Amino acid sequence: MCVELFNLHDKVALVTGAGKGLGKSMALALSESGAHVAVVSRTFSDVEETAQEIEGNGVTSIPIAADVTKLADVKKMVDIVLAKFNTIDILVNNAGAFIGGKMQEFSLDDWYKTIEINLTSAYLCTKTVGMHMIEKKRGKIITISSALGVFGASRSSAYCSSKGGVIQLTKALAVEWAKYNINVNSIAPYTMETDTTREMLKDEKIKQSIISKIPLKRIGLPSDLSGTVVFLASKASDYITGQVIFVDGGFSAQ
Ligand SMILES: NC(=O)c1ccc[n+]([C@@H]2O[C@H](COP(=O)([O-])OP(=O)(O)OC[C@H]3O[C@@H](n4cnc5c(N)ncnc54)[C@H](OP(=O)(O)O)[C@@H]3O)[C@@H](O)[C@H]2O)c1
Repeated sequence: MCVELFNLHDKVALVTGAGKGLGKSMALALSESGAHVAVVSRTFSDVEETAQEIEGNGVTSIPIAADVTKLADVKKMVDIVLAKFNTIDILVNNAGAFIGGKMQEFSLDDWYKTIEINLTSAYLCTKTVGMHMIEKKRGKIITISSALGVFGASRSSAYCSSKGGVIQLTKALAVEWAKYNINVNSIAPYTMETDTTREMLKDEKIKQSIISKIPLKRIGLPSDLSGTVVFLASKASDYITGQVIFVDGGFSAQ
């Protein structure tokens, strides 16, 4: 049955930035398809809550407090997951942050912070988990980039640069690791309702201006990523690698 292609029963996923927002929603979606999920953020109470919700779906979840911009934390995080499950089949590199500002006023410190959380974290997690996947000769790596990794936006130069980097990391590794049967793909959302955008979207003028750029005429919800993340984590996408799937209400089609 075709639906079996999407079954993640007994697969083990690791989702970074799963304390809230898109990461939490994707972690729950993976668990609804049968995966055990390790959930990571710096705030333990957030991932503890996510893990409890995940276990409600009848699978195992472990919450881990780690800063994915730090190699020592990433190594520890991967060791914890391997000690518990003995494998990692799916990695979702979701942790990220938006720091905006005019280029003329944008500090070097904020530039480095943006690159660290959005791009370096993906490098560290992908490399560390990838070592294990290479040994097993299989794996699914999903990066969460952004439509702004391809399209420009004002007051967003560091963010756009970091997400462009995430897309190129995805494509380069898709080519390099295809021989190990590892699929590397990216999900590129546009504006989604999370803590990152909540304040901005309270301004009705800004909200309407964003909606006017979206053919489907609404802001995205975290649950809008569910189908895509399950698809990219599952057998259904075995012949797809190096791709960027825009989950953006059609923003990028114009
Ligand atoms: N929301 C959007 O409109 C949108 C659009 C396109 C792309 N994206 C991308 O989607 C991803 C998720 O965005 P979101 O809006 O869901 O963000 P969010 O609501 O702010 O959640 C981010 C999550 O990442 C965790 N995190 C942040 N820094 C971390 C670190 N150094 N180590 C470990 N965990 C860390 C946060 O927890 P702690 O702070 O407790 O660590 C939190 O759980 C990001 O990569 C973002 O760039 C979002």
